[in-house]
Amino acid sequence: MKKTLLATLLLSFASFTFAQQFFSPEKMVETGVYYYPEAWNPSQWDRDFQKMEDMGFEFTHMAEFAWAQLEPKEGEYDFQWLDKAVELAAKHHLKVILCTPTPTPPVWLTRKYPEVLVQFANGNLAQHGTREHYSWSSPKYRELTTNIVTALAKHYGNDKRVWGWQIDNEPSHYGAIDYGTSVLINFRTWLQHKYQTIDHLNQAWGTAFWSGIYSDFNEIEIPNPSRLTAGAASYTPLVDFKRFSADECADYISLQNKVLKANISKSQFVTTNFMNQNGEADPWNNKDLDFISYTIYPVAGYTSGLGNQGFRMGDPWRISWANDFFRPLKGMTGVMELQPGQVNWGSYNAQPYPGAVRAWLWNAFAGGLNFICSYRFRQPLYGSEQFHYGMVGTDGVTELSGGKQYRQFMDEMRELRKLYKTNTLMPKEYAARKTALIYNMDNQWETDIQKQTYLWNQYNFVTNCYSAIKSLTVPVDIVGEDRDLSGYPVVIAPAYQMVDKALIEKWTTYVKNGGNLILTARTGLKDRNGHFFEAPWGDAISKLIGAKIEMFDNLGAELFAKVKLGDKTYNWNIWGDILIPDSETETWATYADQFYAGKASSVHRKLGKGTVTYIGTVTKEGTFEKEIIQKAYQSAGIPVEVQPNGVMVNWRNGFWVATNYSSDNVTVNMPENAKIIVGCNEIAPAGVTVWR
Ligand code: GAL
Repeated sequence: MKKTLLATLLLSFASFTFAQQFFSPEKMVETGVYYYPEAWNPSQWDRDFQKMEDMGFEFTHMAEFAWAQLEPKEGEYDFQWLDKAVELAAKHHLKVILCTPTPTPPVWLTRKYPEVLVQFANGNLAQHGTREHYSWSSPKYRELTTNIVTALAKHYGNDKRVWGWQIDNEPSHYGAIDYGTSVLINFRTWLQHKYQTIDHLNQAWGTAFWSGIYSDFNEIEIPNPSRLTAGAASYTPLVDFKRFSADECADYISLQNKVLKANISKSQFVTTNFMNQNGEADPWNNKDLDFISYTIYPVAGYTSGLGNQGFRMGDPWRISWANDFFRPLKGMTGVMELQPGQVNWGSYNAQPYPGAVRAWLWNAFAGGLNFICSYRFRQPLYGSEQFHYGMVGTDGVTELSGGKQYRQFMDEMRELRKLYKTNTLMPKEYAARKTALIYNMDNQWETDIQKQTYLWNQYNFVTNCYSAIKSLTVPVDIVGEDRDLSGYPVVIAPAYQMVDKALIEKWTTYVKNGGNLILTARTGLKDRNGHFFEAPWGDAISKLIGAKIEMFDNLGAELFAKVKLGDKTYNWNIWGDILIPDSETETWATYADQFYAGKASSVHRKLGKGTVTYIGTVTKEGTFEKEIIQKAYQSAGIPVEVQPNGVMVNWRNGFWVATNYSSDNVTVNMPENAKIIVGCNEIAPAGVTVWR
């Protein structure tokens, strides 16, 4: 384990020094806000920047969506207005993040070059007057992108007032699929590159089924669900199209990154902001950026959260998940857009709970972020987002509730910085729990395409497991399967359906060397093409988990069966593996009813110096999974701190931060000698406590 600790320390040191190039460690987190000077009377800019400074902001973010103002005619650039805005921002000690304006091409562009527009399944082209309606596969759009980004980079690339760059905005097409000719051409090339021969493609896609055989790559179309009579003959093409789209999106972002890097100073960073696992993108594909950042809106009508006020705070795990997903790739990240208050685009738009915005800020800080940026400074007076709160309201000067909470957070952060000490080591007992959650988009795409039960939702299942782990006060890195696992005492790979031999061997070696692995139902069932293995069911992982998988069962939404763990019984209905444990394997949970009553659902075994736990049953709430996960840490001899439901506790730079997302007052678990810096021992809903 000594070696492991050293590896962890070296790893964190490497990312730490890298981050120092752009961020000052002693500031820990810097806070900023979006501003759209082009939308406001220039006579108000100075006042607005002054207000930002007065509130405590340290940077601002501009130029996103302003292509029409930056290049009013093809090849004619106007940077005067932006020069003025940058100058005024600097006057008020605000660094500037500039954004390339490519999500919103000007009308001259799309009228002159309609081939750059996204084409829908029915052949219609996207219209001017929206955003992300450009095709990232279009050679013309790439050329025009290169022109505007080069002009911007040459103009601002050595400007010390500019801190860094964001490319595009939430690149994703918002889930729209582009069926245009450039996409088709590139898809065929991508397939050719991947499979080399059409026979290999036929094998991988399983085209012997339903007479699907192709004889040439030129016969291949973009999979189009609206043109199918009886569903798709094979799901592999759909997964391949997702993989291709994600690569294509990354390639477009990478093009902009190259143009920027060729023209800007090394002290300016380049990033882009992704929503979580949404749309036609894979954030981790963008490895060439300095880091990837994220955008998050916890309250927009899509979750009921915890208790009767949870809908005003959001899911307890959401911000932590984003922190832990975006940070490990490069050891640094920031939230580019954090919800400022009520928004306009949710299914319904509730006011966040009083204090929730501040709790989100602290939660983002606690996850090791280098910066936090609020979306947006002023509430717009027109445009589709006019109901969207800003830091200040419709009069441009009155601080809204979120604005006040930002101010409070930034005041608190300035106080906290006084207590900052360099190189504070992670507390030993916390480091001993360090967990890697292995994730990839492939499994999300594949299982969501072929659900097998309408109740399956890969993201929900994975985040339920994540949330169970976080409730034990555990530091988590969400990582790809290629990550070196030796620095993680615990590794979990939830519903990791597509595997190969090398991956199973890697996991086995990890365990034999002393690691503790948690696997779950729907792991190892398929190869990378989404085919079953020609072997007994579950064979790929049977040896590793010490059990055979006899079969699995799915039940309906209203139909629950029972599974027993210790003296507690849980309802389940999503997925149930029925296991036959080997003689050395411990059975932890058994089914309590149905025709397989008494058979094993979840098992645990020792292997070499480590342990393997297998959770075979998937419940709606995830409480059963949570119990098993806790038991897995216990059995591995790793003490954890169980927090009250809805409480997230994270450690950063010597500070412990607890945020309460539940609707009740809770008492947070902390050591007796804890010195409270912010808040108190009992935390109200949306409350925050910070201690040393
Ligand atoms: C984000 C988007 C912003 C803005 C915001 C409104 O997802 O990136 O441009 O539209 O939503 O909440």
